[in-house]
Amino acid sequence: MEKKIVLSGMRPTGRLHIGHWVGALSNWVSLQNEYNCFFMVADWHAIMSEYKDPSLIKEYSLDNVADWLSWGVNPKQAVVFVQSEVKEHIELFMLLSFITPLGWLSRCPTFKEQVQQLKEKEVNTYAFLGYPTLQSADITLYKADCVPVGEDQLPHLEMCREVVRRFNFLYKNKVLVEPQPLLTKESRLLGLDCRKMSKSYGNFIALDEDVDSIRRKVLSMITDPARIKKDDPGHPDICNVFTYHSVFNPAIKDEVCDWCVNAKKGCKDCKVLLADTLNDFIAPKREEKTKLLKDKKYLTEVLDSGKEKASSVAGATLKQVKEAMKLR
Ligand code: TRP
Repeated sequence: MEKKIVLSGMRPTGRLHIGHWVGALSNWVSLQNEYNCFFMVADWHAIMSEYKDPSLIKEYSLDNVADWLSWGVNPKQAVVFVQSEVKEHIELFMLLSFITPLGWLSRCPTFKEQVQQLKEKEVNTYAFLGYPTLQSADITLYKADCVPVGEDQLPHLEMCREVVRRFNFLYKNKVLVEPQPLLTKESRLLGLDCRKMSKSYGNFIALDEDVDSIRRKVLSMITDPARIKKDDPGHPDICNVFTYHSVFNPAIKDEVCDWCVNAKKGCKDCKVLLADTLNDFIAPKREEKTKLLKDKKYLTEVLDSGKEKASSVAGATLKQVKEAMKLR
């Protein structure tokens, strides 16, 4: 049986952190064996909100791909590429724009939210309105069956499915494929301060965080506020440090729980152990990333070959799309 096709993307707008690992990247790594995967740097989508200062996008693109590879994305299995290097994305974006009703876009909850929330970025632009249409082009160019995403992306997936149905209805064919969302199981890791983990709050541990700052950041984490002295029994179920232990070292979860509930060890010990655990987890990947970024030759080869493979699939779909629309 042919493997099913997966496409996913990330916007290169900052350093990746352990929230990205838990919420998306770990899933990508485990999907590579079972599916034909396309993993894309969504740099056009990044520029839609970062157009006032797009200067860092190139740097983050390489930096993020270096993280992907050092954390286990295997370019021999998956096609890793940059959206803007495969021109078909823009062309299909245009063709799909012809048939996307304005109301679908202006009513999209993510559009309304972002215009409100990113006031200083002024994303009430022509291009940003079309964000889901570009995303639909990304997905349908590869005839992706499945798209691993977080819940926040579900409205975009739903719109993509509607655009596909409209296309296939208008041009009486089945060229484009309706994708299914693949929701990430372990969905969300809170930030160090218990707010949403986010670049702008600075409450994250980066995928290449160095050993000292891992320690400093973990020691600043808030534990059970009712546990003041070491002798006070704690409540792991409300402790963010405990959640991190269960995600990054599930094997010792019960032991950690026992220390806390029975007041055997203090919060500081618990955090030092977490910092060590995280560092052990991150260290080999951090080293690998440093190597990848020192001599960029390998990274460039990966992206060049990804561009070629992606272009050949995307080119074939675009040809079928134009035939269906009687444009050629
Ligand atoms: N919009 C996605 C996000 O912000 C990124 C993205 C762009 C994407 N194109 C995609 C995700 C195609 C899945 C499929 O996370």
